Amino acid sequence: MITSEFVHLRQDGVSLLVSLASDLVQVLHWGSDLGADPDFESILSATTEPTAHAEGDLPEQHGIWREAARSTTGAPALSGHRNGQDFSPLFVLESFDATETTLVVNGVDRVAGLGIETSFRFVGAGVMVTATTVTNLASGKYFLNELASYLPLPDRAMESLDFSGRWVKERQPIRRQIQPGVISREVREGRSSHDYTIVQMALSAGAQYRAGEAWSMGLMFSGNSKHTIEQLQSGRKAISAGELLMPGEIILDEGQSHSSAEVAAIYSDKGIDGVTDRSYRWLRSRSNHPTNIRPRPLTLNVWEAVYFDHDLARLTELAKVAEEIGVERFVLDDGWFGSRRDDSKGLGDWVVSDEVWPEGLGPLVDVVKKHGMEFGLWFEGEMVNPDSDLYRAHPDWILSAGGRVPPTGRGQLVLDLTNPDCYQQVLSQVDAVLSAYDISYIKWDHNRPLVEPGHGGQAAVHKQTEAIYRLFSQLKQNHPGLEIESCASGGGRIDLGMAQVVDRFWVSDCNDALERQQIQRYTQIAIPPEMLGSHIGPTESHTTGRVHNLGFRAITALFGHAGLEWDITQTSPEERELLTSWVSYYKAKRDLIHSGQMVRVETANDSSLVHGVVSQDGTAALFAYVTTAGQGPSRPNALRLEGLNPATSYRVKAVFPVGKPVFQERTSPAWLDGVTMTGAALSQIGLRPPILFPENALLIEIEAL
Ligand code: DGJ
Repeated sequence: MITSEFVHLRQDGVSLLVSLASDLVQVLHWGSDLGADPDFESILSATTEPTAHAEGDLPEQHGIWREAARSTTGAPALSGHRNGQDFSPLFVLESFDATETTLVVNGVDRVAGLGIETSFRFVGAGVMVTATTVTNLASGKYFLNELASYLPLPDRAMESLDFSGRWVKERQPIRRQIQPGVISREVREGRSSHDYTIVQMALSAGAQYRAGEAWSMGLMFSGNSKHTIEQLQSGRKAISAGELLMPGEIILDEGQSHSSAEVAAIYSDKGIDGVTDRSYRWLRSRSNHPTNIRPRPLTLNVWEAVYFDHDLARLTELAKVAEEIGVERFVLDDGWFGSRRDDSKGLGDWVVSDEVWPEGLGPLVDVVKKHGMEFGLWFEGEMVNPDSDLYRAHPDWILSAGGRVPPTGRGQLVLDLTNPDCYQQVLSQVDAVLSAYDISYIKWDHNRPLVEPGHGGQAAVHKQTEAIYRLFSQLKQNHPGLEIESCASGGGRIDLGMAQVVDRFWVSDCNDALERQQIQRYTQIAIPPEMLGSHIGPTESHTTGRVHNLGFRAITALFGHAGLEWDITQTSPEERELLTSWVSYYKAKRDLIHSGQMVRVETANDSSLVHGVVSQDGTAALFAYVTTAGQGPSRPNALRLEGLNPATSYRVKAVFPVGKPVFQERTSPAWLDGVTMTGAALSQIGLRPPILFPENALLIEIEAL
């Protein structure tokens, strides 16, 4: 609803209520739907604030731009200056444009010579995308420090949830109280990073997976970032996300504009899973979402099978076994090009190596195709090893500052894709390989953080990030149907910006199922499983040394875009049989796993996890019960299943497509062979699980009767 002073946007149970007056544009509410006809004037009156001693004479006014000129003591949305001047803008509303689901507000500060435009767009499933553009309207350069998106939080937002991590242990949850001060998650790696939160949430007190309120923000950008939750001494709270700009990175001449990265703002009154549900429905509604094109092919990546040991005979053996098991896509990883026989040299030379592939990649591609699979190939196009033909020819094509070569990382430097010649070289080399062979998929790696990322003396992360988006779009345009997987030493570049341009993320270099249970669980908070590569790794994990049975590894890998990353030529006949059965199970269930609602059930202990996928119509579901450690009580806690229709009767049974998990079997629960229960009983009473050994998983199938 729109009046001259209020705009009320609504979608799918979410409202954004904004009051617009010439001197203040203010979000009065972002949260649950207020109904078709809220009484704007009363809400404005009800929310008028008292003033306290020792503060301004007027209450702080948190307009959408949070200018200090309104007595706002929090961080401003816009920060910058014109050679030290115009540091404190005050915007006056010039115009606005609104529909039922979008609002665009224009403000101007004639003194500071700045124009500002903020948009709020509901893009489906109640997800709101917001962004701001600032324009320099005056003479003299405007130095932009920060341009972030803020939304107010209600007082009852008491806790925060975000995610941190490192290589092989990405996305570990951090839950804390919101207290005075700022909870800030900043990334300065020039890529989203292993430590990137993907989304940051404020929660009502004690909110759970499926209860309570959540207000979430996630930056749709893959460079430097900042997510904050702020509580001022007045108690006012706000959540923000924005690009973290480096000094001097954005300088606007008169007439120039800069648009902030977009931010996806998601409100849920159905707990954390409610945020997940909206995020999935939004991403899945895109016409280019991978499952809207075709089912996600079961993938074999040969990295942990052969590493740099590329050999046609060996890879042919792998391809044969892969076909026998039912693999649909075969991916050749690092080591096929230039002098790249180990990780110290060759990056930047995207020409097939004569040494290891004397007849080119053709013979391998033919073998893979003959065995009925698609062929995929690895690149790391933003990087160069000093020991490479490219670097010898163009040592100046790297991001750097101060006229020095930045420290290397994994023995490599970062190419300056903001240099058109360098960009063109990478594009044409990659393009030539994709044109020469039938390649339907590329895994694109990014194995080091950016250090001193300058172009011509100026910080260039923003432009470098735009360049990689452009390059991916160009490659997709040149090679229709090409899929791209974003990898950065595992999960170092998973974000909602990259999610718009790629089809898959490599979630982690850790294929240890125990670690993966956690890493996948929390990466899936915002990104749906069909976009998350999850492979069965070797029996003994290469990154942790842990040994897990095949069932645990396979059930863990099932809840994603599943695959294998293991020397399957070394598997026993029994293992192959189980793998074949698992692959056909994945094929039978992928439509459900890749379209349903994600459900995470609260457990009464921290030594087991329950998660599952329920079809959108509630008629089918698949759950996993996972023991991450030995159970406390001798009789394990009830296994409750949520997200089902309470009144519907379901047939519930344990299934063993990869053999039985290990459990004490003096007596086994009767329901394993099948039981009929309502959704209400499954959620309230649950099933008594068998006594699983630690680090085991049980799969439970559910069908409505
Ligand atoms: C890091 C990736 O995460 C691995 O999967 C693999 O592709 C290596 N790089 C190759 O160098």
